[in-house]
Amino acid sequence: PSWAVKRVTEREQWGSRIGFIMAAVGSAVGLGNIWRFPYEAATNGGAAFLLANFVAVLLIGLPAILAEFTIGRRAQRNVVDAFGRGGRAWKAAGALAAVTAFWIVSYYSVVGGWVLRYLIESPTGAYFGEPAAHFESVAVGLDAALYAAAFLLITVGIVAMGIERGIELATKIMVPAIVVLMGGLAVFAATLPGSGAGYEYFLAPDFGYLADNLVTLIPAAVGEVLFTLSLGSGIMITYASYVEDAESLVADGGAIVVVNTLVGYLAGLIVFPLLFAQGVEPGEAGAGAIFVSIANAFQSLPAGELFGVVFYFVILIAALSSSISLLEIPTAYFVDNFDAGRPVVAGALGTGAFLLGVPTALDQATFEFFDSFASEVMLPTGLFLVTVFVGWVYGREAMDELGEGVREQFLPRAWLWYVRIVVFLAVAMTLVLSVTSFAG
Ligand code: PHE
Ligand code: NA
Repeated sequence: PSWAVKRVTEREQWGSRIGFIMAAVGSAVGLGNIWRFPYEAATNGGAAFLLANFVAVLLIGLPAILAEFTIGRRAQRNVVDAFGRGGRAWKAAGALAAVTAFWIVSYYSVVGGWVLRYLIESPTGAYFGEPAAHFESVAVGLDAALYAAAFLLITVGIVAMGIERGIELATKIMVPAIVVLMGGLAVFAATLPGSGAGYEYFLAPDFGYLADNLVTLIPAAVGEVLFTLSLGSGIMITYASYVEDAESLVADGGAIVVVNTLVGYLAGLIVFPLLFAQGVEPGEAGAGAIFVSIANAFQSLPAGELFGVVFYFVILIAALSSSISLLEIPTAYFVDNFDAGRPVVAGALGTGAFLLGVPTALDQATFEFFDSFASEVMLPTGLFLVTVFVGWVYGREAMDELGEGVREQFLPRAWLWYVRIVVFLAVAMTLVLSVTSFAG
């Protein structure tokens, strides 16, 4: 119908290629890099996990991000309608992705709220003294819900401004700031006494551990790659749908993967020296590490309050640049399909996400359920469907999105078969292992 054509031509686009890259990097770089990655590394053997993660990024992350890009740019539509190009039943796959994003943003905002609160408390060092008890009082309860609401309000504000003037503008400022400030923090951490043990733990792999724990390391590493690169939730599909036809998606995908990986490593270079400088075992620090052991470390640092402000500020903007991408996914669906303004849609979805997230702010076990169900079940399911869609619904057509007239070339063909077989099997395996461990 003609209205559909009209709406597509009216659809927003990124203002520039670098804008798209910044937005995608902003989505990828987030709590996953700074909070989750060091924690996962600590519970999976430190450098051994780093190595497994590096291999998984190259072998799964890069081909998979390209697969999502091809779906999005080809369709120039939100994730539901992009999958819908494969037939009505495929819309369900897109809907699942949009629901996944909505689900994640609900509890991701709770962590964003903790970060916001710690940022506000840093100048006075309110969390010094009794860091563990303080974190408990911040993490769970009515306050946690209120700070999550504040975090969501900022998220909604940016998404409401639109693609070019909202998301692109915000991430163009945020992403360079994240990289520069984290670089500064890593240099500072290097000057701490005892930091050397942190580097050794993080950077020198124990090959014995690697060999003995391959069965748990592989799904953990693959799951971390999906989470950290925002794969399986339709973000890279949605963001690529605002990209013009002429751009090389391969170079963009490579740049996004490289920057995201480097920021994860930078986070490790900040977190581990800080932990070791205080004699804290990373494995024991657990998921609350950046709010407890690290927060406590600032107390004994020269200008620790300032360090705290910079540290939580970086985490806050990294979290925001991811939460806007999460909210944008369902927002794009409603903006594409209904005659509703972007601010109204974003506001309504933000309110819904808040309500869904309230139970995770009030109960730690619910929070953990939301997080592990998302990363271990929903995201792998989403990416599994992506591999089938690109591999068999688009098939050779998908190669057209990688470049003009490349269908007969070796690399694009190899990529397609690689997605059909290797990525497919790796994700399927991860999903099976996750589901069994989930059920068990
Ligand atoms: N990639 C983000 C991070 O590392 C989290 C995220 C996951 C965002 C899935 C969107 C979708 O924090
Ligand atoms: Na990430």
